[in-house]
Amino acid sequence: MSDDRIKIEVDGQTIEARKGAMLIEATDAAGIYVPRFCYHKHLTVAANCRMCLVEVERAPKCMPACATPVMDGMKVYTRSPKATAAQHASDKSHRRPESRVRSVACPTALPVTARRATCAIQHKIMETSA
Ligand code: FES
Repeated sequence: MSDDRIKIEVDGQTIEARKGAMLIEATDAAGIYVPRFCYHKHLTVAANCRMCLVEVERAPKCMPACATPVMDGMKVYTRSPKATAAQHASDKSHRRPESRVRSVACPTALPVTARRATCAIQHKIMETSA
């Protein structure tokens, strides 16, 4: 393990992460999916939707994985009852996510655009509006 790498535990699995990385970057690199709506690796972190909330040992409340830096030895639970309850509470507060995304993110404000096959926003709308 190089000096810029640390170890964390996610859902009982030990993974390596780059120092200073956000938790969601570490879980993505390890193939562990954390629900998200506003996070995209090529955009600045807004941390608005709270759908990426995860339980972090010794933290008083769930933390947003997209805005929480990894710390050596931290233990994270992405599917614990506390984490899933927090994620679902966030999901319910966004009853019509497709409307919200359209209004804030889509330059055309249309649910379907010509870029539908490659548009990450379109994919997220389809994922969350079933
Ligand atoms: S993905 Fe939206 S707050 Fe983290």
